[in-house]
Amino acid sequence: MATPESDNFLRLLEARRSVRKFSPRRVTPEEASVLERAFMLAPQAGGNRGLRCFPVTDESMIRAMAETGRLAYGERLAKIGDEEVRSRHAEYGEDFFWFFNAPFLLVAVVRRPPLYFQEIPDINANLVFGGHLSAAMAVHNALLAAQTLGLGGCCLGGPMLQAEEIGKLLGLDHREELSLLAAVGEPAERRKA
Ligand SMILES: Cc1cc2nc3c(=O)[nH]c(=O)nc-3n(C[C@H](O)[C@H](O)[C@H](O)COP(=O)(O)O)c2cc1C
Repeated sequence: MATPESDNFLRLLEARRSVRKFSPRRVTPEEASVLERAFMLAPQAGGNRGLRCFPVTDESMIRAMAETGRLAYGERLAKIGDEEVRSRHAEYGEDFFWFFNAPFLLVAVVRRPPLYFQEIPDINANLVFGGHLSAAMAVHNALLAAQTLGLGGCCLGGPMLQAEEIGKLLGLDHREELSLLAAVGEPAERRKA
């Protein structure tokens, strides 16, 4: 039987849409702490495999991440010989680096699978270890929390194409890697009910 809580929860899910345009208002430290807490409350594969929530509020760092990603993506595309493949990527890539204007980024950082996972033959160690899958659950928690605060946001998987370059910029440990990101802020436009 539905309960008032389940109805409210479904309404929250129904109202959620990705937001990619933000007002200039900064995310407050109190809001950021709700987002980080929601992120860390998500379940993690294996109980705790070192998922880390890396908040980025510094505008110049956010711009540098988008720009580093865009340049590295361009360099990778230039190495593809097939014109058709290159042009399809160029079109798709438009979605990857728009976040340079986001007021706040939550970066999910995951631990790389240890050697004993990587050495099992014929498996995808990343999938089985579950770091990136856990990151996706955590990012969604944070995005739903954003909605309860009147904020909006969008998952960003595209920047994982440049995980090494962006990871270096953030100073990640060699045992860690970049996973899903969430751009969050006050929506530039309110949606009509
Ligand atoms: C794992 C994942 C990765 C995503 N990566 C990107 C991305 O790189 N850039 C982007 O603009 N949107 C990205 N999105 C957002 C999707 O495009 C969006 O959720 C989808 O189009 C459905 O729209 P909605 O969120 O408004 O319901 C991603 C979503 C998910 C779940």
